[in-house]
Amino acid sequence: MRFFHTENIMAEEYNPYNPIVMDHFLNPRNMGDLEDADGIGEVGAAACGDIMKISLKISDDGKISDARFKTFGCGSAIASSSMATELVKGKTIEEALKVTNKNVVDALGGLPPVKIHCSVLAEEAIKAALDDYIKRHPEKAALVAANNHKA
Ligand code: FES
Repeated sequence: MRFFHTENIMAEEYNPYNPIVMDHFLNPRNMGDLEDADGIGEVGAAACGDIMKISLKISDDGKISDARFKTFGCGSAIASSSMATELVKGKTIEEALKVTNKNVVDALGGLPPVKIHCSVLAEEAIKAALDDYIKRHPEKAALVAANNHKA
């Protein structure tokens, strides 16, 4: 049986991940849960079985004041969820609903093509958390729809 040594995997010659991805994988931002989260989204990727959970705290003015993630998955999924939480913090619900997996990939400086689906998981988890928030606060749904209509 042949084993890879981590120093070889992390070495540039074998590493298909850029330094931003590696940084978010090795030093993930906003990892964990939020006590009294206002919206929680949990999604899974059927192809690989990875699971991502994103929790959001949303203030009365409709802005995302905090975001956390827990990801059971690959390094790209961890980097994508870390970046996605960074991207939505401070955004309004309407703005956060427009965050796409491409925004996550771009902010990460790119992902290998076979890992793009990991960033899709992050987009879906954010949207699921926002859906959960809107379900819990139906009065905000009309506001979101009205603002989206204006945009
Ligand atoms: S391989 Fe499953 S999310 Fe990355």
